[in-house]
Amino acid sequence: MVNVTIDDRMQQAEAGELVVDLINRVGGTIPQVCYHPQLGPVQTCDTCMVEVDGRLVRACAAEAADGMRVSTKSAAASAAQEEAFDRILSNHLLYCTVCDNNNGNCTVHNTTKLLAIEHQKIPFRSKPYEVDNTNPFYRYDPDQCILCGRCVEACQNVEVNETLSINWEDPNPRVLWDGGSTIGESSCVSCGHCVTVCPCNALMEKTMLGHAGFLTSIKKSALKGMIDVVKGVEPETGYGAILQVSEAESKMREHRIRKTKTVCTYCGVGCSFDVWTKDRHILKVAPEHGPANGISTCIKGKFGWGHINSEDRLTSPLIREGKTFRKASWDEALTLIARRFTELKAKHGADSIGFISSSKCTNEESYLMQKLARAVIGTNNVDNCSRYCQSPATVGLFRTVGYGGDSGSISDIHQADLVLIVGSNTAESHPVIATRVKSSHKLKGQKLIVADLRENEMARRADLFFSPKPGTDVAWLSAVSRYILDNGLAKTEFLAKWTNGFDEYRKSLEPFTMEAASRICGVPVETLTKVAGMIAEAKNVCILWAMGITQHTQGSDGSTAISNLLLITGNYMRPGTGAYPLRGHNNVQGASDHGSMPNMLPGYQLVTDPEVRQRFETAWKVKLPSSKGLDNHQMVDAIHAGKLKSMYLIGEEMSIVDSNANYVGDGFSKLDFFVVQDIFFSETCRFADVVLPGAPSLEKEGTFTSTERRIQRLYEVLEPLPGCKPDWRITQDIANRLGAGWKYQHPSEIMDEIASVTPLFAGVSYERLAGYKSLQWPVAADGTDEPLLYTKRFAFPDGKARLFPVSWIGPTEVPNAEFDLHLNNGRLLEHFHEGNLTYRTEGIREKTPDVFVEVSPELAEERGIQSGTWVQLISRYGKVRVRALVTDRVHGHELYMPMNSVESPVNRLTSSHTDPVTNTPAFKETSVHMNVLAEVGESPLPRNNSRFGHPTPQNGVEVERKWKRPDYHTPGNGNGLVQIQTRK
Ligand code: SF4
Ligand code: SF4
Ligand code: SF4
Ligand code: FES
Repeated sequence: MVNVTIDDRMQQAEAGELVVDLINRVGGTIPQVCYHPQLGPVQTCDTCMVEVDGRLVRACAAEAADGMRVSTKSAAASAAQEEAFDRILSNHLLYCTVCDNNNGNCTVHNTTKLLAIEHQKIPFRSKPYEVDNTNPFYRYDPDQCILCGRCVEACQNVEVNETLSINWEDPNPRVLWDGGSTIGESSCVSCGHCVTVCPCNALMEKTMLGHAGFLTSIKKSALKGMIDVVKGVEPETGYGAILQVSEAESKMREHRIRKTKTVCTYCGVGCSFDVWTKDRHILKVAPEHGPANGISTCIKGKFGWGHINSEDRLTSPLIREGKTFRKASWDEALTLIARRFTELKAKHGADSIGFISSSKCTNEESYLMQKLARAVIGTNNVDNCSRYCQSPATVGLFRTVGYGGDSGSISDIHQADLVLIVGSNTAESHPVIATRVKSSHKLKGQKLIVADLRENEMARRADLFFSPKPGTDVAWLSAVSRYILDNGLAKTEFLAKWTNGFDEYRKSLEPFTMEAASRICGVPVETLTKVAGMIAEAKNVCILWAMGITQHTQGSDGSTAISNLLLITGNYMRPGTGAYPLRGHNNVQGASDHGSMPNMLPGYQLVTDPEVRQRFETAWKVKLPSSKGLDNHQMVDAIHAGKLKSMYLIGEEMSIVDSNANYVGDGFSKLDFFVVQDIFFSETCRFADVVLPGAPSLEKEGTFTSTERRIQRLYEVLEPLPGCKPDWRITQDIANRLGAGWKYQHPSEIMDEIASVTPLFAGVSYERLAGYKSLQWPVAADGTDEPLLYTKRFAFPDGKARLFPVSWIGPTEVPNAEFDLHLNNGRLLEHFHEGNLTYRTEGIREKTPDVFVEVSPELAEERGIQSGTWVQLISRYGKVRVRALVTDRVHGHELYMPMNSVESPVNRLTSSHTDPVTNTPAFKETSVHMNVLAEVGESPLPRNNSRFGHPTPQNGVEVERKWKRPDYHTPGNGNGLVQIQTRK
């Protein structure tokens, strides 16, 4: 700590703390237009000038030092601040009363007030550029742009999409997209970082424009007239009086604009943000305080909310009548469900009914679903879609370290010295986690290795990228481990102190020489040796993996091999290290955590353990089934076998998301009674007997658990549409019709019950999760959580990790003469899975209207294909018709098809082969034959997709270039004080 005097008062500061942060912390007030704590010092605006020991400095760039004397209001500092802000106003037309950004948080407005500006010395000067409206989600108004560069800093160094820059050398600088493209045709991925940090109305969400203010929907011509009137009176009245009017208008807005915290409904990163609404209109998503994301989001979280007010939301229960459905009352639908479940249970037994929980629903809803299955119906036939993705990773971690979740936090990934990404398209599937890797790689020297079939964005950024043949990861991971051990590069002390099973594991590595792995994987020995060397050398290593590992017949073994590699290199137990299986859905972690699994009660407690069952039986006052139930894959087999007669499925598009979709659909059509609960009439609803209208995340309360085991609260942003109900209420209604007598009034009561029966969540409560507070499980009864696991011990009785031997078996399905191409599949940045939610956002449809199959330039030439050529893909299980996209992201005979289609879902092609340990389908082991059709259409990816842009990487806003302009001088120089620039 150091002592610093601020305006004659002694303050304690941490050495190195920015003076601006110190001033803000102790309640001082200085202008600071370009400074944003999450961006750091941008140093473009000069409004934060303070006097330090007789010299003028930028408070945002100066670090606190012992004995420093800071004056924020000396004559020199005040003059400099005003001069700097006058320059800002010359770039910005103040028309606050009719501005959609007049919401109390506009930095330009607030600074005008803070400095009590009455008149501008430098008049406003319009810039010779048009407003750019070419992005579907936001617009840029150059005339309002104060050139603070926050947006550039965010795009270049936080999101690291590297689209934005400012042409400082130009007589009329402005923000540029790809150096001068329109926004629509640039590399902009519509993540919204720039819009979120813009301190004024230069960048604004289109959903705000004309909607936020009372007078902002007026016509442009009228607006101009009003602005002219205001400007006309300004010389006489001064800004003070004018601002009073706009302040009154802003105050009025407080009564009609609601700001409600929620958690993103899409991927497992767990971004949280405020949603601004006016009635049911979503004005904007405002990320700032989220513990996982701060100011970050991706296109889906920032702009992908068209599904909420979509006209085709289900708003009434539906009951099948022959081949169609008719609307029904809730009472009729619930009565029918209760009658049919009761009849089927009586006739065929409790195990003739299966339950599928939703990874989009809340923890509380998942808990109630498994409670309904077990305590009310009496079966353990309950599962969730983690079966399709994360179960193998969970097993790999259960086998080796003890907990089935990420071993640390996103901040650990951010601070690692080396990140290895295996089989994960992180930049598209977990975009905000990708930003942390991209920024550490760009700015902090973090090393990046990527192993993937496709040359995705992370692969292109990597220091080392290689493509093992599909399904061979166990071989190279084990060979790298063996090489590290053979060459004395392993952390032997760590191994001795913290692991069991070394000898057996060491023996299991015998077949995995570098040469053998090279043969199996098709990767040169030199590359694998380099990978081993980089991992062994790095101080702290994180490994990230996803479906490229888990959706293989050796998904569990691949995940185990990753954890083994981390153990032998000592990369657990410290910040910046560990295992990160990236969870796909917003709450896929929570769905399993809360017991929607056929073998586990909440908190991963085995249904076969009598002591565990006893605890739940006491709490629930029922006798519980004691043998493991069917998982979702087995349920489909059981329908075909005539054993499973009925299902209740919530919020899952299982008929096309499960592998071998034709087989799944056939199964569903054989069910005696099928209840599907969703917010839209999904493909799966087509097989239902009763459809129930649930509520999307914005219309309910509850908690989600993200990939980093972070439990976060979501609040009700909007009331459920009339006719819909939060899913927990519906499940409770069904349970009660079956005689359960549940009386939950609010999800917090469900969470209290969860905490009371689940040691993993013993200290979880809604109070401890209030607002933006969060907890990363395990949570002890006193509320202590564990952002980083295993800091003291591994989660086994003796506290030691277990090296777990694995052998290489190889993929079940490889290309042959008939099915000669390997088909890979996965997500697309803009869409979530099959697109049921994201297609309902018009701008997303505009950027990515359709599915496609990626074809390599080599294959395109060989088969006479161009982007837009229609092809038919035929596998052993089905066929789809789809347009080709020729791209060098794939190589040779490798195809890639994203999942975003209901009409041509890739899972019509995938098989029923599974990882035998978890029953997770080997989605990624699919071979196809491709018929090139005569028809050639437009490219399936429009030219305005970000992929066709040309980024302009640079280190942030490059303010030094501004300082070199001949017309630039630091404000305050005229006072004879010395200007110093302290740090960037
Ligand atoms: S990618 Fe686009 S939306 Fe995201 S920060 Fe850059 S310019 Fe803004
Ligand atoms: S558009 Fe960028 S440079 Fe212009 S005011 Fe907004 S954040 Fe600052
Ligand atoms: S989809 Fe994922 S990365 Fe995008 S905003 Fe939502 S949680 Fe964040
Ligand atoms: S806040 Fe803009 S230069 Fe310091």
